[in-house]
Amino acid sequence: MAFAPGKVILFGEHAVVYGRPAIAVPVTQVGARVTVERGVDGVLIQAKDLGLSHTLGESPVDEALEPVASLVESTLEYLGVRCPPPLVITITSTIPIARGLGSGAAVSTALVRGLSEHFGRELGPEEVSVLVYEAEKFHHGTPSGIDNTVISYERPIYFVRGEFPQIFKVGKPFLLAIGDSGVKSPTKVVVGEVRRRWEREPSRYETLFDQIGRIAERAKEEMEEGNLERLGSLMDENQALLQDLGVSSPQLDGLVKVAREAGALGGKLSGAGRGGSVIALIEERTREAVTTAWERGGAQRVIATEVSS
Ligand code: MEV
Repeated sequence: MAFAPGKVILFGEHAVVYGRPAIAVPVTQVGARVTVERGVDGVLIQAKDLGLSHTLGESPVDEALEPVASLVESTLEYLGVRCPPPLVITITSTIPIARGLGSGAAVSTALVRGLSEHFGRELGPEEVSVLVYEAEKFHHGTPSGIDNTVISYERPIYFVRGEFPQIFKVGKPFLLAIGDSGVKSPTKVVVGEVRRRWEREPSRYETLFDQIGRIAERAKEEMEEGNLERLGSLMDENQALLQDLGVSSPQLDGLVKVAREAGALGGKLSGAGRGGSVIALIEERTREAVTTAWERGGAQRVIATEVSS
């Protein structure tokens, strides 16, 4: 049995696709679980939450299981398992789909870990991440690689596309509230829209990406120094730029606003935007007020997670 957590992006979504830095942290309150057992006939993949199953090599494969089936094949190949014995691979997940919490990357990571453990091989985070990145292309089109990286490393990361992630120390642990807007927002769609706008107005979008990238750089310093007031302000600044990018929505803006009014130090959307999740920097004393404000504001689920090194 293998587990992989969810994730949230704290700073730099979208700009990270264009080579600017971003910061992401794992969220262990939610996650994906994969069990790999001896089967009877063929390699059977069961996605319990989706009510779907597929036997490798048979066609047709349901679109939703395509990335998973292809990842099972590539992982078995990577592990050197040419003629796999009969297997039953069972996938479950508590991460809501298309809410910016990395559900696809978490399922893929748990899958790679489950298969490698079953065949007695221990893969390092970088190896897992590289395998998962291929599956991410199905979900995201042109993924930056931040989701597979933060989920395989399970540590706060400062990430630049194509470079090794920097795992950095948080000066003072802090609390994040994560609210699910209840609106599904597939990353591929929103990333595609941003790309079209960038193609139409490259210099405007390049400037926005630069500004977002600089915020991520400053945010890393503030996290290392444990300066939470300034970290909160940087979240607000990042949110304003995400609005300029056109990936926020009145609902997400409203949730960020009520979190601030309830005492959060800062807040923003997290992930692709349009729907998905919002995050707010909170303290123990403001936790209940922010949670209540979000529930009243229509958030479907609110969780709090501590970010530490
Ligand atoms: C998705 O979690 C974050 C985006 O920046 C896309 C990506 O980095 O691939 C929107």
